[in-house]
Amino acid sequence: MSDQEKLIIFDTTLRDGEQSPGASMTKEEKVRIAKALEKMRVDVIEAGFPMASPGDFDSVQTIAETVRESTICGLARALEKDIDRAGEAIKKANSGRIHTFIATSPIHMKHKLNMTPDQVVEQAVWAVKRARNYTDDVEFSAEDAGRSELDFLCRVYEQAIAAGATTINVPDTVGYNLPQQFGETLRTLIERIPNADKAVFSVHCHNDLGLASANSLSAVLNGARQVECTINGLGERAGNASLEEVVMAVRTRRDLFQCDTTLDTTQIVNCSRLVSSITGFPVQPNKAIVGANAFAHEAGIHQDGVLKSRETYEIMRAEDVGWSKNRMVLGKHSGRNAFRSRLEELGITLDSEEELNGAFRRFKELADKKHEIFDDDLQALVNDAGFSAENERVKLVSLKVCSETGETPMARVVLCADGVEREGESAGSGPVDAAFRAMEKIIESGAELQLYSVNAITSGTDAQGEVTVRLQRNDRIVNGQGADTDIVIASAKAYVNAFNKLEQESQRAHPQKGRV
Ligand code: KIV
Ligand code: ZN
Repeated sequence: MSDQEKLIIFDTTLRDGEQSPGASMTKEEKVRIAKALEKMRVDVIEAGFPMASPGDFDSVQTIAETVRESTICGLARALEKDIDRAGEAIKKANSGRIHTFIATSPIHMKHKLNMTPDQVVEQAVWAVKRARNYTDDVEFSAEDAGRSELDFLCRVYEQAIAAGATTINVPDTVGYNLPQQFGETLRTLIERIPNADKAVFSVHCHNDLGLASANSLSAVLNGARQVECTINGLGERAGNASLEEVVMAVRTRRDLFQCDTTLDTTQIVNCSRLVSSITGFPVQPNKAIVGANAFAHEAGIHQDGVLKSRETYEIMRAEDVGWSKNRMVLGKHSGRNAFRSRLEELGITLDSEEELNGAFRRFKELADKKHEIFDDDLQALVNDAGFSAENERVKLVSLKVCSETGETPMARVVLCADGVEREGESAGSGPVDAAFRAMEKIIESGAELQLYSVNAITSGTDAQGEVTVRLQRNDRIVNGQGADTDIVIASAKAYVNAFNKLEQESQRAHPQKGRV
């Protein structure tokens, strides 16, 4: 594919996506997502903002060391300390990029930066040159370009390219633009900037008016060759352009776009599920491409048409984005080899024999409770195996709940905390509430419950429930997950998982803190 035909996919789920309130992820979770993005053949992964915190730095550095196929990018304001920190974080990457930015709209320059346009240009040029000391791959963004003056944008971008920027990003930071207008902005910039041919033009659209994907696609039709996007459209406020929408629009309408991505689109649904379960942000059923109903035909006339010829109502094949036919694959008597080969067919590779053994053990436990095991169950099972936090302080040993009409629900739980089994009992307004209170009697987490959500993985009353529990302690927010055919047990697992993550974070900050 020539440079003009290739559309670069820059995923910012781990940076802009993580800026969604409540979507914070641990380093281990970010690494899992980065590996899934690499497997999907995403070109550039923006792994974080290294200057934001030591944790962000550590995550970017670890991802730079772990992911070898995608370019790893670190974000930096146009400031010395940010650029040096980003340069340090991406040092070990096979291919590393620094993404530096400064605001260019009159409103941002005046009220946020308190700088004149000349000072902004000078700072941008300085920042790009500084970043070039660390890598040849430097991206420059004019923050709030969507509300900046076109003449000024031409000036700042021309100078950034002259200073060594190889990617020029045009962000619609507040999601203010409309598709035709944004497309024209891109066309004008590319036509008017004399050295435009020395850089790839990129767009970064926010979804405040629900137009992020449309604006990105309009820009591509007008010459942009990189799109910044996130899985499930996660991101600040209303989110960013959604990767799956942009990629599938370009792929499906190849007749209109003069470019395509090199993504393995069959990984889209897996990535979507992984991000949704890690962040606790569910995907709405009618969400394009990755929503549960995206390929479901309810109306009789549609079903009839699709049965006769799928093209009557389907513009894409569900399999091409990774939806399985949800057929029963394995059962109680299936062996380890059958399990491993079905995972391989689904494109799931486990890193070690130990991980495979753990997943197989869970599969056997599930097969005892659930007659039919679907591909979606396997996916959840593997995700679940990856949810356990490192050095777990607390494990769920047993849980008993009593729930009866007209009676107050009661729960008795046994946890193994720092190697010692302890029991807690409590009443609650429902069985889940009682179970959480009983656990709190033992662990006294001091955390506040921010979110509790349950998702059925497959249909039927024997389906596994996937639960997310979001806990906040001081300024730290974590999402815990758990899956089980019994949703009270899934809830308890998710609570324990969230608590272990909180403890893991405090251990990192204060290594000799006390016992539970
Ligand atoms: O929305 C925005 O402007 C950004 C920049 C840092 C690119 O996220
Ligand atoms: Zn953004």
